[in-house]
Amino acid sequence: MKDFLSIIQCSTDELLDLLRLARELKALYKKGGRDLCLAGKTLAMLFEKASLRTRLSFQVAMIDLGGYALNLKPDDIGIIGKREPAKDMARVLSRYVHGIMARTFAHDTIVEFAHYATVPVINALSDWSHPCQAMADVMTIEEHLGKLNGIKIAYIGDGNNVARSLAFVAAKLSMQLVLASPEGYDLDADSIQLANDTQAGCVQTTRDPFVAVKGADVIYTDTWISMGQEAEKEQRIRQFQGFQVNRELLDAAPKHSRVMHCLPAYRGMEITDDAVECPQSIIFDEAENRLHFQRALLKKLLSGSMPH
Ligand code: CP
Ligand code: NVA
Repeated sequence: MKDFLSIIQCSTDELLDLLRLARELKALYKKGGRDLCLAGKTLAMLFEKASLRTRLSFQVAMIDLGGYALNLKPDDIGIIGKREPAKDMARVLSRYVHGIMARTFAHDTIVEFAHYATVPVINALSDWSHPCQAMADVMTIEEHLGKLNGIKIAYIGDGNNVARSLAFVAAKLSMQLVLASPEGYDLDADSIQLANDTQAGCVQTTRDPFVAVKGADVIYTDTWISMGQEAEKEQRIRQFQGFQVNRELLDAAPKHSRVMHCLPAYRGMEITDDAVECPQSIIFDEAENRLHFQRALLKKLLSGSMPH
C-alpha cells in the first residue's frame, strides 16, 4: 500500500489493519503517551479547496508523531496544473518530502500525483471521493455501536464524494448503505455497481428518506452544495427539499440510531440544529476521529518512506 486514494482500491485486511492501528494510537494518546515514529519526516499538504478538519487533523497528527507538515495553498504554489503540471510538482515534491496529501477538484489530479510521486500520496478529498472521512466514520460507528458487520447506514442527500466513500467502505466492511437522494442527484450507477460487485446488495437506493431510515443504525447526511457547486446553490436547495435530517425523520428511525455528518454542516438545510445537537448525534466524536485515523494512516504510509 503506497498511496491512499480510494477505499475501493484497499483490501478489507488493509482497512481493518488501519482501524486497529487508529484504535491503538487513540488509546495511547488519550493516556498521554506518544509515538515518535515520524521524527524528522515531512508531509506536504496541497489544497485547492478550503478545509478545517482535514488540514488541522493531518497537521496535528504529523506533529504528534514527531514530524512536520507544510501547508501549501494555490497562492503559494500556483493552481495545480496551471503554473506547472501535476506530474512535475509530484516529482519535485518527491525529492523534498516523505509524503504528499492533496485536496483537489478533479480526482484525476490526485491519481496523476500518485503515478508520478515516488513518496506516498493521500487523497484529502476530491470531487470523487473522501476516503479519510469514511474511515473516521466507521471508526466512530464501531466505537458507538460495537461492530461494523451488518450495520445499516441511511444516507440522506446528495450522491456525492462522501456518499461514494461510504458505499465503498460499506462494501469492504460488510455493512449496508441505503442512499436516499432526489432524482438527478443519485450516486452514479458505476460506483453503486462497484460496491455491489464487492459485496452483493450492500448499496441500495430509494427516493424516500423515511424508507431509508427504517431499521437504520446510522442516519448520515452531508451538504447539498459541495465545494465547487456554489453556482448551483439555488437550484439544489429547491431540489433537495424533503431530504433534510430533522426531528420528524429521526422519530421514524430506531431509537438506538446515531446521527452523523462529516461537517461543515449547514443548519436549516441538510440538517436541523436540533438534529446536530440531539443526544443521538455523534458528529463531534466523528470529527475527533479524523485525527486518530490520520495518525494511523500517516504511520502506516510514511514510516518507511524517503524522498527520492
Ligand atoms: N469533513 C471535512 O473534510 O472537513 P473539512 O472540509 O473542514 O476538512
Ligand atoms: N461533500 C462535501 C464534503 C466536505 C467535507 C464537499 O465536497 O464539499
